[in-house]
Amino acid sequence: MTHKTQDKKLWGGRFAEATDRLVELFNASVPFDQRLAEQDIRGSLAHVAMLGQTGILTPDEVARIEEGLGAILAEIRAGEFKWRLDREDVHMNVEAALRDRIGPVAGKLHTARSRNDQVAVDFRLFTKEAALDLAEKTRALRAVMVAEAERHLSSDGGQPVLLPGYTHLQVAQPILLSHWFMAYAAMLERDEGRFRDAAARMDESPLGSAALAGTPWPIDRHLTAQALGFARPTANSLDGVGSRDFALEFLAAGAILAAHLSRLSEELILYSTFEFGFLTLPDSHTTGSSIMPQKKNPDVAELARGKAGRVFGHLMGLLTVVKGTPLAYNKDLQEDKEGVFDAYDTLATVLRLYADMLPKTVWHAEVTKAAAARGFSTATDLADFLARSGVPFREAHEVVGGLVGLASRTGRQLWDLTDEELRAAHPLLNADVARSLTVEESVKARQSYGGTAPERVREQVELAKAALS
Ligand code: ARG
Repeated sequence: MTHKTQDKKLWGGRFAEATDRLVELFNASVPFDQRLAEQDIRGSLAHVAMLGQTGILTPDEVARIEEGLGAILAEIRAGEFKWRLDREDVHMNVEAALRDRIGPVAGKLHTARSRNDQVAVDFRLFTKEAALDLAEKTRALRAVMVAEAERHLSSDGGQPVLLPGYTHLQVAQPILLSHWFMAYAAMLERDEGRFRDAAARMDESPLGSAALAGTPWPIDRHLTAQALGFARPTANSLDGVGSRDFALEFLAAGAILAAHLSRLSEELILYSTFEFGFLTLPDSHTTGSSIMPQKKNPDVAELARGKAGRVFGHLMGLLTVVKGTPLAYNKDLQEDKEGVFDAYDTLATVLRLYADMLPKTVWHAEVTKAAAARGFSTATDLADFLARSGVPFREAHEVVGGLVGLASRTGRQLWDLTDEELRAAHPLLNADVARSLTVEESVKARQSYGGTAPERVREQVELAKAALS
């Protein structure tokens, strides 16, 4: 970034005094909005072509501007463009560079346009592409989840890998590891949908809204919308330049995705501890400690959990920026970009890291199975046994609750209770019944639609695979 002495501002007509240096720094957005250079030039090319097609500019003027913009784009791509802070933002950097290159005819590019619709169209182009890209990356991670679910249906010597299912982080009922993977796949499916819905809703071009009220020039907004790949122009010029709900929706979809990835991270961190020992994260995605030689830290998962904070922050930040602004454009709206850029970069990276890390994560089936059997995880199955024989479920619950109390006081499992103890609790109970309370039988029994029985989980996997193919 060059800190040149200011040349005359593009808007300098009514100003006699130079801009204060600190104001210039405070006002400038070019340090971050130069990221919109591609979109800005695309927007300008669509605009100038339309100015030619509608007879507002001559073919010669259009050709010279197009050539100049093409050369500037090449310079930017080659990293040779000199961004200047005194030229404030990406729009005026490009336009001033165009004037340096082709002379006063450059000034005709801004006919029937304002920076207000210019920035709105640039930022929509960026955000729509970002939403569709995150939709794709979310889908790719979902495909990994489904593949992992399928793999773990038979990775324990041909048997499905078992996992304790938790509520309140207390062992609740045994589930299949594949069922757990498919739960995250379901969340990611909706995340993808939210990005696609948002992209479809923001698929309108604000270009031609001009400053706020439209323009007396005979422009064709349908033409520019089409040239830029938008479904249609925005229907109201005030809304076109003054609204940022497209960015809010992007951030909201991103925040929900970040929350899901954070929950996943928390489980991976917990399950990788020495105390749980359910899984081993790959060396490639963990780090060591500079002092404790035994350590293998789940940094990627911890950062993925922590990064949710900044994505949520960007959503809250922009909501707060927008809420007090009167129609239409206000400079406050310049604060819309950095959060969106950062949320996009953050989520794109986490999605890629997880797509790489999960297939390399090793699950310890013997540990998860043993854990799935602890904590009286099959107590509900015993209550269901009684209920199936006609005992009202509430009464069965009470009976089994008493047995759990007895077993836990005496350091035993339900299947260690004696015939006499079981019969005393309820005449329908005996040692054979208690011994049949295995985790395998427990999961097999959960045949309800969406349940954890292997057949049901396989159905989920097959449906997801079909949807993904
Ligand atoms: N850099 C500005 C932004 O990002 C561009 C629009 C400026 N418009 C204006 N009326 N000052 O919002």
